[in-house]
Amino acid sequence: MFALISLLALLPSVLSAPIFGLGDDGESSTEATTAFSLADAESTLLRPGQFARIAYCSSQSITTWTCGEPCKALPNVTFLQSGGDQGLIPLYFVAHDADDQSIVVAHEGTDSKNILSILNDAKFGLVDLNVTRFPDTAGKGIKVHSGFQETFERTADGLLAGVMKGLADTGAKKVVVTGHSLGAAVATMTGALIKKSVDPSVEVTVTGFGLPRGGNQAWADFLDSDVGVTFMSNQNDPVPSVPPRFTGFQHSSGEIHITDDTQKNFVACPGQDNENCATGNSLLDVNVSNHKGPYFDDLSFGHSACPDGAT
Ligand SMILES: *[C@@H]1O[C@H](CO)[C@@H](O)[C@H](O)[C@H]1NC(C)=O
Ligand SMILES: *[C@@H]1O[C@H](CO)[C@@H](O)[C@H](O)[C@H]1NC(C)=O
Ligand SMILES: *[C@@H]1O[C@H](CO)[C@@H](O)[C@H](O)[C@H]1NC(C)=O
Repeated sequence: MFALISLLALLPSVLSAPIFGLGDDGESSTEATTAFSLADAESTLLRPGQFARIAYCSSQSITTWTCGEPCKALPNVTFLQSGGDQGLIPLYFVAHDADDQSIVVAHEGTDSKNILSILNDAKFGLVDLNVTRFPDTAGKGIKVHSGFQETFERTADGLLAGVMKGLADTGAKKVVVTGHSLGAAVATMTGALIKKSVDPSVEVTVTGFGLPRGGNQAWADFLDSDVGVTFMSNQNDPVPSVPPRFTGFQHSSGEIHITDDTQKNFVACPGQDNENCATGNSLLDVNVSNHKGPYFDDLSFGHSACPDGAT
């Protein structure tokens, strides 16, 4: 009940309309979900999740890869670059993962209270995607959340330079982009930038946890056709359901939904905004704690998940 009350307080402007699922204009999938096992989660989502968790640790502990258990879970990683100030500009880091022969970009997120107030702030509506940066998207009518794009733009150039240098120096043929919450939303934009900038022989994967909606239908379609995002939504976390669809926002496809708190039961959700997954959640069941986790294998996000390195 406490969670519900805080959500109501944070989302006053949407209370006049149904938040979840009803009363929207976009396309929502009603396709049946398909099986997704713990083994599937561990082979595809665990490693990106472990990197996204580290993005919440202090800058200094990331630089030296001494952030305690979260860093110990990922040996053989070489830190390459970081940016942001953990305040206005959330931290990101670039690293080389020798075990996976990849360059990793992980974006820091923010807590559920902050992300919900950002998502509910009327000054952050949909704005045009920066077509100077993404010239191929001109004329497609792509709009994204202005706050996410502003956050992305503050570090995009330096981040991309770091990734290109990392690829050249290590010979890696894969880039893994990941983040939780706000970090997941920025990761989708970073993923789009890296995908169009690297040689086509380089594989780019984008993974998000607790991903809010980041743009309109055209953005969702662009992510599906040109980028490819996989994102995990945990039970009754309200963040994947905002901003609401009736305000023009739409999720891309690629959702993996956690159905209960055993950390073992997941489903893959075909199509965009599948009603059988987070999009179909009821406002009455909201649990804000689900945003930080645990998701599976005790994967939780936030400064408290980085006890040895938190600032
Ligand atoms: C990773 O580290 C382990 C333990 O230090 C080592 O045995 C293994 O060879 C390393 N793998 C790579 C790819 O460097
Ligand atoms: C758009 O992207 C260009 C780089 O391609 C950048 O220089 C410019 O600042 C960006 N515009 C905004 C409004 O962020
Ligand atoms: C909300 O989620 C947290 C963990 O994410 C869990 O511990 C708690 O029991 C849940 N609350 C309810 C009412 O289900």
